[in-house]
Amino acid sequence: MLINEEMKMAEVIHLNHHLLHVINRFGIQLGYGEKTVKQLCAEHELPLPFFLEIVNTFHDPSYFPVDAMLRFDAALLIRYLQQTHAYYLEFRIPEIEQYITRLTTDESWDEAVKRLIRDFFHQYVFELTQHIKREEDRVYPYVLALAHYLETGQGEKELVESLMHYSIQEYENEHDDVESKLFDLKNIIIKYIPRPKDSRILNLILHELFELEDDLHNHSHIENMILVPIVERMEKEFFALTRNGRHD
Ligand SMILES: [Fe+2]
Ligand SMILES: [Fe+2]
Repeated sequence: MLINEEMKMAEVIHLNHHLLHVINRFGIQLGYGEKTVKQLCAEHELPLPFFLEIVNTFHDPSYFPVDAMLRFDAALLIRYLQQTHAYYLEFRIPEIEQYITRLTTDESWDEAVKRLIRDFFHQYVFELTQHIKREEDRVYPYVLALAHYLETGQGEKELVESLMHYSIQEYENEHDDVESKLFDLKNIIIKYIPRPKDSRILNLILHELFELEDDLHNHSHIENMILVPIVERMEKEFFALTRNGRHD
């Protein structure tokens, strides 16, 4: 069952509580009362189709209306992606870090196990942070400059050309690397911890890692399946315009 505009937001959360984080990123916080999705989007000045598509891609992984999404405003999409990055770095990762600290300060755990998990986690956080930094410093500014040039035809041509060297193909491949690091970390915990006396803290860490993985998977999916095609479409327009000299 997909989310639609007439549903009450409270029903949406009862249907799938994992959507809470996604809905929060749009600035819609708890305390929905009897309000519908449509009413809350209007209150927050959010384009309803954009909200519904993002929420439904998260809710149902088999749902992916790429054609409709290709018409979305690049700036709106980038704002959503940046909110997601902030959620990972400022909230989700520190939360997992707290559990890891609980484990590593517990004397009953073997030192080698503690070191292994801590080192692997820090390595993963480093990779994820580097990836996010590259997106925020290079990919997103490029997309915004491209959109701005196509809209106004002014001043951005050199900027777009200088940024264009970062291949969008290379960008897509990076997502697989980040995902496989997280998978390895989960696997170490599931398979290779020698007979823990009490697994509860590990269960919590694992649960958090699975949640993070789902969220990140959806985020990368949106970047690969929506952002990249939007960029490719804009690049075509950019080349057509600059070749015809219409914007010079
Ligand atoms: Fe991202
Ligand atoms: Fe990404």
